Amino acid sequence: MPNPTRLLFVCLGNICRSPSGENVMRHLIEREGLADNFVIDSAGTAGWHVGKKPDSRMTSAAQNRGIPMQGRARQVSPDDFASFDWIFAMDHSNYADLLEVRDRCPDPTARLVRFCEFCEEQDDEEVPDPYYGGPEGFEKVLDLLEDGCVSFLQKWRTGSLP
Ligand code: 4NP
Repeated sequence: MPNPTRLLFVCLGNICRSPSGENVMRHLIEREGLADNFVIDSAGTAGWHVGKKPDSRMTSAAQNRGIPMQGRARQVSPDDFASFDWIFAMDHSNYADLLEVRDRCPDPTARLVRFCEFCEEQDDEEVPDPYYGGPEGFEKVLDLLEDGCVSFLQKWRTGSLP
């Protein structure tokens, strides 16, 4: 088995968007028998929710689509830029914060990208923060994550990642 592809999803709090990205991707690769080919994790740029489970509204929305949620929040660290191949920022603010984290890694090798670059069905630039909004926000997060994860996986399979 070749080295696994290591993916890290990053948002602000690591309780809504990025754990969903992690678990949407895990669900897809397990369904396709590709679990041994990937290491998948998520983290937040902020440390406010470290150790917490994903937000219960996010967990319910994901479970309604058959996607189980697992994991506990952690804060992103400079070392992540040496431990992962791809780091997916959920929004522009996360991306800007991650550039500063990357500056503190002595030997960064990860590709830092905006997650929405992989979305094909929707042309949003960001996965919007659902924390202070209503239930439709959580559905939007999942729509974007499913779109981008399917498309990333398709590109991975065909060797056509940018
Ligand atoms: P996330 O959502 O970045 O998708 O996990 C948020 C979670 C918590 C807060 C903001 C966004 N907060 O302000 O505590």
